[in-house]
Amino acid sequence: MKNILLIVFVFMASALLFAGTPSKAELNNGKTVFNKICFACHKDGVAGAAAITNKKRWQENADKGIKKLVSSVKSGVTNGKYGTMPPKGGCMDCSEKDIHDAILFMINESGAKLK
Ligand code: HEC
Repeated sequence: MKNILLIVFVFMASALLFAGTPSKAELNNGKTVFNKICFACHKDGVAGAAAITNKKRWQENADKGIKKLVSSVKSGVTNGKYGTMPPKGGCMDCSEKDIHDAILFMINESGAKLK
């Protein structure tokens, strides 16, 4: 019984520890989506978009939390502080998971971290 509790504890602790760490599969899919469409604005930071190299801007984004970011990409940004993004970043055939993974990829590449 004690052992089971210990295993459960270790499992939960590691789940917490790695909660903010994207998996390889997520990052690979995110990279594909980024290269398909998001790069058009987010590679160099066109028209107010956060460049993938801009850690400060991506940290500012990451601090909003992944849920909020996915939902604002889905609906698009019309009254942003920096500019305008079309709904789904213009990727009409992207699933919610594609958008999620592309965001994780950009946060990761910039060196920023989700909380
Ligand atoms: C046409 C240019 C353009 C494209 C393409 C684009 N974005 Fe954006 N994106 C922007 C701009 C501009 C902003 C900044 C809006 C603001 O905060 O003022 C932004 C902001 C964001 C944010 C921050 C949202 C927030 O809540 O502050 C995320 C996350 C994001 N983009 C992800 C993506 C993803 C993922 C893709 C590809 C599926 C994508 N973008 C494609 C222009 C673009």
